[in-house]
Amino acid sequence: METWNSEGAKKVLILSSSPRLEGNSRGLAVSFAAGAREAGHEVVVVDLVRHVRHMLGYCRTCRDGDGECSLDDDFKPLFLHLYLAADAIVFATPIWWYGMSSHMKNFIDRMSCYISESSPHGAQAKPRVMGKRVALLLSAEESSFASRLGLVSQVAEFCRHVRCSFVGVVTGLGNLHGEVDRDPTNPLEEARLMGQRLFDLEDTDYELDTPRSVVVWLDGSGRFPSYWR
Ligand SMILES: Cc1cc2nc3c(=O)[nH]c(=O)nc-3n(C[C@H](O)[C@H](O)[C@H](O)COP(=O)(O)O)c2cc1C
Repeated sequence: METWNSEGAKKVLILSSSPRLEGNSRGLAVSFAAGAREAGHEVVVVDLVRHVRHMLGYCRTCRDGDGECSLDDDFKPLFLHLYLAADAIVFATPIWWYGMSSHMKNFIDRMSCYISESSPHGAQAKPRVMGKRVALLLSAEESSFASRLGLVSQVAEFCRHVRCSFVGVVTGLGNLHGEVDRDPTNPLEEARLMGQRLFDLEDTDYELDTPRSVVVWLDGSGRFPSYWR
């Protein structure tokens, strides 16, 4: 398992969650990583299927005598050392049955065991789950926007719940291995740009009394709008 090395650089953890290790989601993840590295960030790409083999169980029966999760795989170092220290999390997933892959869902489920108050890691982990930037890279066969609304909405609610900033989505259409590179909307390039701009993306969502300018595009602000594609 990789670790973080650089002092000072923003840390971007990309969790690629397709079992097709050189497939479309991985392709988007690699392009995003290239863009983030161009911007000077430290990036780690992790294939979840290589490290997280067990599904969340019933914590009361899975925990050992010290209250530690006894599921025997790499979730613990991945979560405690890579995820909690990251400034941004990027989920790359194929759409499966109009939702995220079971591997991505299981990763999020497994976090519950570590952030609950009954976990020996809960007090330390809970505040560090919050305050990150989150981006989503999707691979899908179907172009229908409605077919990905459920998944986007679930990630948005996850981000709201853990007080993270959801800065957008890039969707690549394809089914065959690597076919997203033939998508004429060029999702690989969009993913690269999103990686470059990750910490400049701003998702504006105002309340009635939010102080703001009536001008949306301020010259030279250096900010980019969030992507929802
Ligand atoms: C179990 C399964 C369910 C799928 N469900 C959907 C779906 O609901 N909508 C869709 O557009 N594509 C669906 N697909 C197609 C994949 O999203 C598509 O092939 C994607 O490019 C695969 O990405 P990958 O190469 O990263 O695995 C499904 C594929 C599988 C294997």
